[in-house]
Amino acid sequence: MSGRRILVTSALPYANGHIHIGHLVEYLQTDIWARYQRLAGNRCLYVCADDTHGTAIMLRARDEDRPETEVIAEMSEAHQRDFADFDIRFDHYGSTNSESNREICHEIWASLTAAGMIQRRDVKQLFDPEKGIFLADRFVKGKCPRCGAPDQYGDSCDECGATYSASDVIDPVSTLSNTAPELRTAEHIFVEIEQLHDFLTVWTQTSDHLQPEIANFLQSNFLSDGLRDWDVSRPAPYFGFEIPDAPDNYWYVWFDAPVGYIASTKEWCDANGEELDDWWRSDDVEIHHFIGKDIVYFHALFWPAMLQTAGLNLPDRIRVHGFLTVEGAKMSKSKGTFVRARTYLDHLGPSYLRYFYASKLGAGLDDLDLHGDDLAAKVNSDLVGKVVNLASRTARFVKATGLSETYPDDGGLFEEAAAEGDRIADAYERADIAKAMRLVMALADKANVFVEKAEPWKLKKEEGRERDVQDVSTIALNLFRQIAIYLSPVLPRLQAQTGALLGRPIESWDESKTPLTGTPVAKFKPMLQRLDPKTVEAMYAASAES
Ligand code: MSP
Ligand code: ZN
Repeated sequence: MSGRRILVTSALPYANGHIHIGHLVEYLQTDIWARYQRLAGNRCLYVCADDTHGTAIMLRARDEDRPETEVIAEMSEAHQRDFADFDIRFDHYGSTNSESNREICHEIWASLTAAGMIQRRDVKQLFDPEKGIFLADRFVKGKCPRCGAPDQYGDSCDECGATYSASDVIDPVSTLSNTAPELRTAEHIFVEIEQLHDFLTVWTQTSDHLQPEIANFLQSNFLSDGLRDWDVSRPAPYFGFEIPDAPDNYWYVWFDAPVGYIASTKEWCDANGEELDDWWRSDDVEIHHFIGKDIVYFHALFWPAMLQTAGLNLPDRIRVHGFLTVEGAKMSKSKGTFVRARTYLDHLGPSYLRYFYASKLGAGLDDLDLHGDDLAAKVNSDLVGKVVNLASRTARFVKATGLSETYPDDGGLFEEAAAEGDRIADAYERADIAKAMRLVMALADKANVFVEKAEPWKLKKEEGRERDVQDVSTIALNLFRQIAIYLSPVLPRLQAQTGALLGRPIESWDESKTPLTGTPVAKFKPMLQRLDPKTVEAMYAASAES
């Protein structure tokens, strides 16, 4: 056991919407990585939480005429049910609207204040007098101040590509009330992160904290210039935490959201008799954040600045993934390709998507496409055709006898595949899950060639070949089990089924190095059904209706 201590997080999903198959790219990627680490003998905590604060939740609660806390409690339950049914296993799932989060926000704020990084100044912002709130850019529409195109959002123009501030929009309209907003002045509170410019340059550009593309993006878009102060306050009404010494001002949701990583860890520690400082103030821990490429800026600039100032651990790695497209295009409600996790589960089993994403997710930032025919082809040819088939064709031959007492001569197949385990492990470690899957499938191909050549179903019919049938099946089932171990992080159900079939639960990666002998073999039960592409069509149809 190498026994590293690893804390893993996924971005905290917004509480104002359901989990969809785009989100699942991230939660499945993280879950697979965390499961790999545990299987490899490391101590790995996977924590997450709902991201609950902000204007969107406040408006929804108003619309539904109930308190925000009720809306977010309901959503948290739905999110956790969806994750659990996809076999995503968190050690703790919290909420940013928790006392532990409030406490840690206060601590970090005190550090920022003590470091002289907090500034206050007046800001002019559009205000919707009808609704009584200051308007975030996305709630403002109007004519582009540069080209005059009508109906553009408050931050940028789709026609000419200009970016601007909402107060420059011509003839602005509040999308909340369809009335003209007025310009009002309010005091805002800023974090002067320019003070940490040198630190951030070193942190982002060295030591492999980020993928090279991300490091370059930050250097050329932000770090090559002075860093602008970060506006972290929002005037009331806002659903969030009130800022100390600033009555009626709330932390902007992106201030308290990442703190939720720590708060969730704290809740886990409290429930398990551990110390938070052992996970967030320790030289003996690795922190890995998995995020999508849309939220890099918050995680790779503001977040390290907050952690550094508060004397907390910085992440060792921020692992950024690309975006999901469906059937070659952006997910679309009208086309039915905006598929909720729950709608998916109503039609298809979780293992299919887990394997499909695994086979597409490299260590880079590439987008990935979910294509129904592709999904069916991969699942059917790889999992059903190559993997499960190894067991389904041979298990029944040894149901009566169990596996051979000594492992037979297999021409070196098992040993080769055991050695290959190191390369597969390395691919998992680097989060190149697609490569791990390619290596595993190459092993499955070799195992199938062996079974095809040995033809146990023929031997079975020949006189006096019982021993050969048992040996061939013992080899096939051991090669199958090795593959099931390698796939365990991706397919925990196959892991459990294989354990049950061969009378020995799969508990560690190193079990792939030694063959099983002499154990009883249970009656073979179907492990994975073939996937009919029509089911995928039905899923899209159901998504288009909802
Ligand atoms: N609440 C913020 C994160 C706060 S973390 C301190 C947020 N939430 S989100 O619900 O919009 O997204 C959660 C994660 O899912 C993000 O990392 C985001 O990149 C990812 N994805 C959302 N849609 C996605 C795809 N279509 N494809 C891949 N990942 C996607 O951002
Ligand atoms: Zn324009």
